[in-house]
Amino acid sequence: MNFIDLFCGCGGLTEGFIKENYKPLLLSDNDPYSMLTSENRLTSLGFNKSLVGKICKKADLTNKKNIPNLLSNIDNKLEIDVLVAGIPCQAYSSVGRAQDADSMKNDKRNYLYKSLINFLNILKPNIVLIENVSGMLSARPKDALIIKDIFNQLEKSGYNVHREKKDILLNSLEYGVPQVRKRVIIFGVKKSLRINPVYFYEKLQKTHYEPNNKKKGLKKFISVNEAIGDLPKIKPGKGKEFYEFFKPKINRYLKEIRKKGYRYLHNHTCRSHNEKDKLRYFYLSKNNWQLKDLQHKYPELIHHDPKHFGNRYTVQAGHLPGRTVVSHLYKDGNLFIHPDYKQTRTFTVREAARIQSFPDDFIFSGSRTQQFKQVGNAVPVLLAKALAKTIKILR
Ligand SMILES: C[S@@+](CC[C@H](N)C(=O)[O-])C[C@H]1O[C@@H](n2cnc3c(N)ncnc32)[C@H](O)[C@@H]1O
Repeated sequence: MNFIDLFCGCGGLTEGFIKENYKPLLLSDNDPYSMLTSENRLTSLGFNKSLVGKICKKADLTNKKNIPNLLSNIDNKLEIDVLVAGIPCQAYSSVGRAQDADSMKNDKRNYLYKSLINFLNILKPNIVLIENVSGMLSARPKDALIIKDIFNQLEKSGYNVHREKKDILLNSLEYGVPQVRKRVIIFGVKKSLRINPVYFYEKLQKTHYEPNNKKKGLKKFISVNEAIGDLPKIKPGKGKEFYEFFKPKINRYLKEIRKKGYRYLHNHTCRSHNEKDKLRYFYLSKNNWQLKDLQHKYPELIHHDPKHFGNRYTVQAGHLPGRTVVSHLYKDGNLFIHPDYKQTRTFTVREAARIQSFPDDFIFSGSRTQQFKQVGNAVPVLLAKALAKTIKILR
C-alpha cells in the first residue's frame, strides 16, 4: 500500500507506515531541518538518492500554488491508499491557548486543516488520517467548534467519519509507547468504500494497560526506566552526537526499537545547566519531591513566580510511563528532568526520542534545538505503526 504524509515533520507517522511496509509517495513540510531528517532517514533505509529527491519536498502547504509541483511525480491515475497529516497544533494546544492574549482565537493556524482538504479533493485517497492534540476537540475560534467543521468538510469531500469523542482520543501508552500522550485520531473513509470508520477504531489493537488499570490480555505499560535506563550516564553540557554503544542484553521495549546487534547511539548530548538548576534537579529527583516540597525546604531555589510556565520543574518517574513530550523541550528541559539524581540534568534528544518510540538508528538532523522540536512534534512511531497496521484491513 502507498501513502502521502503532509506536515510530515521528521517523520514519526512516516516511520510507522514504512515499518508496516507502505510505500511513501510524498513527504512534505516547510521546516528544512525536519525535511533533512526525513531525507536522511529514507536514504538510510535504502531508498536511492534520486527517489528521495522525488519523495521529499519542502514546501509551504498553505500555498495552493505549490500543489502542482508537489504532486508532479505522482501518476495522476495512481490509486492513493492513505493520506496522513499531523496538522500543526499550536492553535489548539492548551499551553498555546493559555499563553496567547486572545486564546489563539485570531490565529490563522486554526484553519490549517483547510490546506489538507485542498489536497484531499485533488488526490481522493481511500483513507485520510488526521492526528492532533486533544485541544482540537474543544477549540472554538469565532465561536464555532473546529472539530465540527473538520468533520463537515471531510463529509463534503466524500469521506465518512466517526464523531464520537471518547473513541477518537487515543492514549499512546496503550500501544506500547512509554509515554502518556493523548491524541485525536480521525479516520476519514471514502464513501464509495462502504466501510464504517468505526470499524477502524474497533480493529485498532491495544497492547498495554495503563498504570493502576491492569487488564487481562494486555501487557504492563512500558516505564521510563525501561526506555532510557541503559543509556550512557552523562553530566550537564556533556554527551556526544555519536557513540559506539552496544549492550548484549536488552529488555522487552528495546527489542522493539533497537535493531539486534546495532552498535551505535546518536543525539545523546545534554544542554548545560546553571548551578541553581542543578541543585533543583538534584533535590527534586533524589527525594521524589514536587516544587512545593522544594519551596518548603529550599525557598532560595524557587523562582519569583512559581506559577510561571518556565518553572514547571518535573522529574520523570522512572517506574512510570513518561509525561507527554512537547516541543517546548527546545526552550528548556525542566519538564523532563532525568530520574537519576546523580546526573542532575534534563533529557537528551535520544532520551526524548526513546520515549517517543523512535528506533535507535533514526538520526535527527539540525542543531539540538531543532532536534528537540522535531521529536516533540512527532507522532510516536509505535502508535503510527498500530494505525498503519489497522488500515491494512482494507486489502
Ligand atoms: C505536528 S507536526 C507533524 C509531526 C509529524 N506528523 C510526525 O509524526 O513527525 C506539524 C508540522 O507542520 C509543519 N508546518 C507548519 N506550518 C506549515 C506550513 N505552512 N507548511 C508546511 N508545513 C508546515 C511544522 O514544521 C511541523 O513539522
